[in-house]
Amino acid sequence: MAAQLEQNSRMTKQTYLTGITTSGTPHLGNYVGAIRPAIAASRVAENESFYFLADYHSLITSHDPASVRESRQEIAATWLAMGLDTDRSTFYRQSDIPEIPELTWILSCMTAKGLMNRAHAYKGAMQENVDAGSKDPDKGITMGLFNYPVLMSADILMFKATKVPVGKDQIQHLEMCRDIAQRFNHIYKEVLVIPEVEVDDNTALITGLDGRKMSKSYKNTIPLFLPSKKFRKMIMKIKTNSLEPGEPKDTEANTVFDIYKAFATSEQVSAFADDYANGIGWGDAKQKLFELLEAQLAEPREKYDELMAKPEIVEEVLQAGAAKARVHSKELMREVREAVGLS
Ligand code: TRP
Repeated sequence: MAAQLEQNSRMTKQTYLTGITTSGTPHLGNYVGAIRPAIAASRVAENESFYFLADYHSLITSHDPASVRESRQEIAATWLAMGLDTDRSTFYRQSDIPEIPELTWILSCMTAKGLMNRAHAYKGAMQENVDAGSKDPDKGITMGLFNYPVLMSADILMFKATKVPVGKDQIQHLEMCRDIAQRFNHIYKEVLVIPEVEVDDNTALITGLDGRKMSKSYKNTIPLFLPSKKFRKMIMKIKTNSLEPGEPKDTEANTVFDIYKAFATSEQVSAFADDYANGIGWGDAKQKLFELLEAQLAEPREKYDELMAKPEIVEEVLQAGAAKARVHSKELMREVREAVGLS
């Protein structure tokens, strides 16, 4: 019985969907944690995959049009330069799919406010106000932040996604999405597919310049695409301890080793570990890291620069992606409108 179930689930085609909030400039951590695994998955023939730029979500945190525009462009160019297969997958911008805000509204009308009150992002923002001694716990909190999980649910339900690969911080949003979809199906009819979260514990998390997790909010990131010289300089800035060349070094909790490991083959990793045991100097270790990264990133960087210089190419790819996506979203909205009495 269990084997049968397992076989069935292996035989059923999965629909993968994930969104990338367009804020900031893509860095090594984004690549290793999200971009690389998604691109690898996009090349697996039997799955259908949807990848999109969550640019409506970016408006929640940024009210600066220039940086919204820039980040959108940089992130799109990064995915394409890194080799996303846009024939096999559907790659689009959230804001090019007008059915998404439509569905967001309809879902809002059946989402319990109390459910949203419990969202971590909203609760965290309120707690910050309380901690800062503000009289109003909702100070500076927008409806965008509050509704964030509903918009995200619309993103997912629109394309009948069955698997949603996300980071741990998004698990609660997926639970909310399932709740909302189940409620819709219960009240109206079985239109929405209940998605499953897929948290990959194996995806490498890398540390940043200061030794903490590489994250935009810590300002410790190493951008993925910098001119070679600048890139090298950045790597040389990684914080290390004061051990001298000749002294054996620990590979544990070491940023240089950590990043190296995320990009190297296992043979390269063990050779690098030997270098550490033999007392490689930090300058030399960083140089080796630079060379490893440079070998993998130089070519996509050229592609990236080309795409950044010719935004019309990216635009064309995204428009084609939106057209492909809208075949699905128009159909879903037709079913939803019919179900709720708006047809
Ligand atoms: N909120 C997600 C994040 O910050 C991005 C996102 C938006 C998303 N919509 C989505 C992820 C739908 C998966 C599915 O990481």
